[in-house]
Amino acid sequence: MTRAARPILAALLFAAAACSRGPDLSLDRMIRQSRYEAYGPSAFFANGAVLQSPPEGAVPRERVLDPVRRDAREEGSLVDYVPLPVTRELLERGRRRFDIYCAVCHGTAGDGECFVAAKMALIKPPSLHEERLRKLKSGELYTIVAQGYGLMESYAGLLSVDDRWAVVAYVQALQLAENARADELPGAVREEMERALR
Ligand code: HEC
Repeated sequence: MTRAARPILAALLFAAAACSRGPDLSLDRMIRQSRYEAYGPSAFFANGAVLQSPPEGAVPRERVLDPVRRDAREEGSLVDYVPLPVTRELLERGRRRFDIYCAVCHGTAGDGECFVAAKMALIKPPSLHEERLRKLKSGELYTIVAQGYGLMESYAGLLSVDDRWAVVAYVQALQLAENARADELPGAVREEMERALR
């Protein structure tokens, strides 16, 4: 036998051996092994059972370890506040998200004035400054973004929970801005406005 043929023969023999026995597909060896049944007895634990209660103070894996509430509901009803600190940063984030995801239909000012809205034949995206929509609770706005409303689709797939709240905060800022009275403005802002109008 030539030198080159030797490894080929070895490989063929190995393959033949593997074929004759075949891989062990039986799961018997896994079924027949000593193990505990969830509700069975155990001599190991003091209470004689396999299942043990979690130790006191154990934290469920699903619990959000953030003290800030992000839920739209509190004791069953929708909240009327944004459960995140409404900072300038959050509003900026809300503005960016709104301009990307909502403005195409509701207009950058939220007034429903835009090219797409003008072309929508069936139901037009409403102005977010309508009396009824200005009265929506934060939790209701959140639910509209998260679940969609009528013809409007859900934005849950595109906006994270925090982003949805950021959009809610920004929509409320737009609503406030559209309807703010001069005497409600903070001093410095009012002076700036008066200077600009002069
Ligand atoms: C593709 C167009 C489109 C986009 C994008 C869109 N909307 Fe709408 N929206 C609509 C239409 C159409 C309606 C009216 C639906 C109906 O009455 O069936 C509506 C309704 C609403 C309402 C009023 C619900 C009510 O109670 O009457 C709010 C608030 C709203 N949208 C907010 C948003 C926000 C916030 C975003 C961005 C996350 C957004 N929309 C993105 C088309 C859109």
